[in-house]
Amino acid sequence: MSSRKKIIITIDGWSSCGKSTLAKQLAKEFNYVYIDSGAMYRAITLYFLRNHIDWTDTAQVHEALENIQLEFRYNEHSRQSEIFLNDENVEYLIRDLVIAEKVSEIAAIREVRTFAVKQQQEMGKKKGIVMDGRDIGTVVFPKAELKIFMTADNAVRVERRFKELFEKNPNVTIEEVKNNLEMRDYIDSHREVSPLRQAKDARVLDNSNITMEEQFKIASKWVKELI
Ligand code: DC
Repeated sequence: MSSRKKIIITIDGWSSCGKSTLAKQLAKEFNYVYIDSGAMYRAITLYFLRNHIDWTDTAQVHEALENIQLEFRYNEHSRQSEIFLNDENVEYLIRDLVIAEKVSEIAAIREVRTFAVKQQQEMGKKKGIVMDGRDIGTVVFPKAELKIFMTADNAVRVERRFKELFEKNPNVTIEEVKNNLEMRDYIDSHREVSPLRQAKDARVLDNSNITMEEQFKIASKWVKELI
């Protein structure tokens, strides 16, 4: 595998359509680094909430970003990379609905995006990377060799996210999850800076009616054709 050409794989799409599942499968198969760009926006949101940052105030945003250090560290035990915010592992905390409720608003801030995108581009310099998010194939790596745009029916996505959140918090309701997904999709695709868009040269993967194994097969075939 190592003699093969290393490429950049980008996976963009709507919330909860299985981007990270596919990204992790591909990273494992091809021995690539997996980067969850959404985790960066979530960790920044956690910092802003904890420190009561008024994110409508550009000066406060600037100062806050200067105090944020993000890092992905590989956990040998879970075999996943986890995000650290100023040396604290926040991988679990950032999955909370409280963060999901604010993250799209914060991810729409120009300064926040500049801050995150710069680090993401740095991570892709050596290639051999799979990154998922909303603007990875359009803004972060517009020259990526393989761009995947994922989508799935709304009802399927709500059900998936509900199951995931319910395991952590049995008080969560399907209505809450549905509203949150709709709100995030709307903000993510309508914001002024780097809105969620399908790159012109992206390959579309609709996984409403296919299994995880099937979607993995399709995407791995695409990778193999390129490496
Ligand atoms: O993929 P996710 O649900 O963890 O992402 C959380 C939020 O971060 C999502 O609502 C939009 C934002 N995001 C973004 O704007 N750009 C990215 N590249 C990744 C995520």
